[in-house]
Amino acid sequence: MAENTLRGKVAVVGGGEKNLGGLISRKFAEYGAKVVVHYHGSQSDAEQTVKDIQGAGGQAVAVQGDLTQVADVRRLFDTAVDAYGGADVAVNTTGMVLRKPILETTEDDYDRMFGINAKAAYFFIQEAGRRLNDHGRIISLGTSLLAAFTDGYSTYAGGKAPLEHFTRAAAKEFADRSISVNVVAPGPMDTPFFYPQESPERVEFHKSQALGGQLTQIEDIVPVITFLATDGWWFTGQTLFPNGGYTTR
Ligand SMILES: NC(=O)c1ccc[n+]([C@@H]2O[C@H](COP(=O)([O-])OP(=O)(O)OC[C@H]3O[C@@H](n4cnc5c(N)ncnc54)[C@H](OP(=O)(O)O)[C@@H]3O)[C@@H](O)[C@H]2O)c1
Repeated sequence: MAENTLRGKVAVVGGGEKNLGGLISRKFAEYGAKVVVHYHGSQSDAEQTVKDIQGAGGQAVAVQGDLTQVADVRRLFDTAVDAYGGADVAVNTTGMVLRKPILETTEDDYDRMFGINAKAAYFFIQEAGRRLNDHGRIISLGTSLLAAFTDGYSTYAGGKAPLEHFTRAAAKEFADRSISVNVVAPGPMDTPFFYPQESPERVEFHKSQALGGQLTQIEDIVPVITFLATDGWWFTGQTLFPNGGYTTR
């Protein structure tokens, strides 16, 4: 991306149909990108996001995929090439959360959690590295739990932890094409993803840990991702923690 703008660029957004990914898709389109809106199970959200983008004069296409399947990751990037002739920015917001003590965690829990949080993230970075144009940007969603010392999130924080190493290696390996690779690791974020594994008391505790006594808002994360995709191009191999100072021990 020689020019540090999203205008005329093509963006692939993993989990781009709803919540954080949905807002990234809409904002990137507003800034002039053509957007490939990936979804897993929420077809109606994906259709609505595409409809809204098109209604506002933008360009977007939806594509379904289980990103734990490498063939589906490849098909996602094929869609960008087929629809728009290539891709410049790849943002992977997919993930799955589980709060469960280690002693109760099953083999199936472990495989599901590492399948989407680690394996899918790895092959998304790999395929983006193969398919993005020079000066591309790759951004993966981590979690502030990467910097926490806490219980219950062994397979979630643990499943996201490899992202930092995938990202540093990719940043080095793709640097000759000026492709930057980063992780954005928000604090507990006010979306339906967050609440099922938390009690009302714990929600209040999480709020108390950040600036203004509030959870992270998706509206506060999208500018960080937009920055990395545009003027923040000099960041690479890094994990950014936009979390209002949230810490957990
Ligand atoms: N909300 C938080 O508290 C918080 C805090 C820090 C970081 N994060 C991270 O931020 C990202 C976005 O989270 P969010 O809050 O916006 O929730 P979200 O919309 O539920 O994001 C998760 C996405 O991953 C998709 N997904 C799950 N399994 C998949 C699979 N096998 N193949 C392809 N896609 C799959 C989900 O689709 P389906 O729902 O259709 O399966 C969904 O689109 C996640 O990576 C999350 O770990 C969240």
